[in-house]
Formats: sequence, C-alpha cells, structure tokens
Amino acid sequence: MKMTGNTILITGGASGIGRGLAEAFHRLGNQVIVAGRRKDYLDAVTQANPGMRAIELDVTDQESIAEASAQVLRDFPSLNVLINNAGVMALDNPAEPVDDRMLVDSVATNFLGPIRLTSALVEHLKSQSAATIVNVTSGMGFVPFAIGAVYSASKAALHSWTMTLRYQLEGSTVKVVELAPPWVRTDLLNSNEAEGAMPRAEFIAESMALLATGADEVLVDRVRRIRANPGPNEAAYFQEFNDMMLKG
Ligand SMILES: NC(=O)c1ccc[n+]([C@@H]2O[C@H](COP(=O)([O-])OP(=O)(O)OC[C@H]3O[C@@H](n4cnc5c(N)ncnc54)[C@H](OP(=O)(O)O)[C@@H]3O)[C@@H](O)[C@H]2O)c1
Repeated sequence: MKMTGNTILITGGASGIGRGLAEAFHRLGNQVIVAGRRKDYLDAVTQANPGMRAIELDVTDQESIAEASAQVLRDFPSLNVLINNAGVMALDNPAEPVDDRMLVDSVATNFLGPIRLTSALVEHLKSQSAATIVNVTSGMGFVPFAIGAVYSASKAALHSWTMTLRYQLEGSTVKVVELAPPWVRTDLLNSNEAEGAMPRAEFIAESMALLATGADEVLVDRVRRIRANPGPNEAAYFQEFNDMMLKG
C-alpha cells in the first residue's frame, strides 16, 4: 500500500500493536485517527502525537459503530484506510463449560467488529481512488492455541472472511490486506515482558516494511511457519506447537 498521504482509521490504536502502527503511520505524514473505548488511552496517544486524532468506539456495539463511522466520514471525508486491529484474548478450555460472556465478547470484538465496521465504511472506501482495508488476525488463526480456543477460532474466522472480502473487491480501488502477528510484547495476555514474544518495535518496523511491498498478507519472519501450517501436516504441527507452548 501507499505509505504516505493517507487518512487512516485504526481501531485499538491507543495501545500495543495498534498504537505502534498509528505512530509509525503518523511519522510518515499520514492523518491518523485512533479509535477505542478508553478515553484516557486515546488522549495519551493524541497528546504524544500532535495532529493525530481520536474517536471513542466500542466495536462490539452496533450503535457505537454507526455513530463513530458517521463522525469519521463527516470529519475526514478523505478516509481511505481502515485498520481493523482491535481485539481481545481470553484463555479458555473447550473441554470445560464455556464462559458465555467471554464467548460472546470475543466473537463480537474479534470477528463481528471488523465485519460491522467494514460494512459501515466499505461504500465510502470504494469511492476513493486508492483505499486499503487491513484486518489484523493472528498466527493462532492458523495453528489454534489449545488454551485460547475461542480466540483462535475467532481469528480463523476473520482470516476466512478477509479472503472473501479480498475476492469480492478485486478490480475495485480497495486492496485487502491481512496482517497476522506472531506473539508480540503488548498488554494482550500481559505479554509486555514476555521473553518469548517479539519486541513490539521490531514487529512494527518489519510489518511497516512488508505493508509497503503491497503483499496481500503481512507476515513477519517469526510467523511464517505458523502461517504455512494448514495443509496435510496441520495436525502434526498443531500438536508440536501446543506441546512446546504448554508442556515445555
Ligand atoms: N500481542 C500479540 O501477541 C498478538 C498476536 C496476534 C494477534 N494480535 C492481535 O493484535 C491486535 C492488537 O492487540 P495487542 O496485542 O496490541 O493488544 P492490546 O494492547 O490489548 O490492544 C488491543 C486494543 O483493542 C482495543 N479494543 C478491545 N476491545 C475493543 C472494543 N470492544 N472496541 C474498541 N476497541 C477495543 C483496546 O482498546 P480499549 O480497551 O481502550 O477499547 C486495545 O487498544 C488484536 O486484534 C490481537 O488479537 C496480537
């Protein structure tokens, strides 16, 4: 994708990967709008990055999506990039009774949210001369994590939906990109200090370089084996990955 001169809406842009992408695009001279629920986090990002804007948004709430998308289109009619980054991850065990609130919240945030926000903005994006939709999935959409079952499934679903979106937008002005991170040091699962997770700055730098190449899938080196897993050996690597993560 073109890396400068865009007007970019990033959900979950006030922390972690979203904030990293927001600040990297801001430094390149793009108009960036970060969106999320916590106003204090949004304020902290805009104060640290003069010119960046913020909007309160709960991607699990249809009304909030309708209001925020209308406001963005009113205030930023040049909007041409949507980054569906907001996500939540809870640990669970599919072999035990499921916590229904966790189930509904995970699916509403990670899967319904990107679909609903894309739906609210897609006609506008199609009217732009060059637009991009980036959906942030996860390596766990390709190798499910046995203690993050609902999360992994929600990301696999978003991967599937992203493929159909790309297919249907072929020949339009809208490019569809899937960004599938490996484990990265962020607040997600309190991973900021995790040795095994990729440092956030390295992840952002590698991802920005890959975004600039125009690739359909943004896959940093660390996630490529996981991305390549589905296929005849899927079950074997699923077992190996989970044994490594959970049994040491
Ligand atoms: N870190 C990793 O290891 C990793 C690996 C693979 C994929 N990912 C994906 O990367 C994305 C970003 O995660 P992160 O690691 O940067 O974690 P993070 O710092 O916890 O960021 C998640 C962001 O999503 C926002 N969010 C959550 N629920 C929301 C809602 N209902 N409405 C609007 N915004 C909401 C949060 O803001 P508010 O709480 O203020 O709303 C927060 O800014 C997620 O989709 C995650 O699944 C992360």
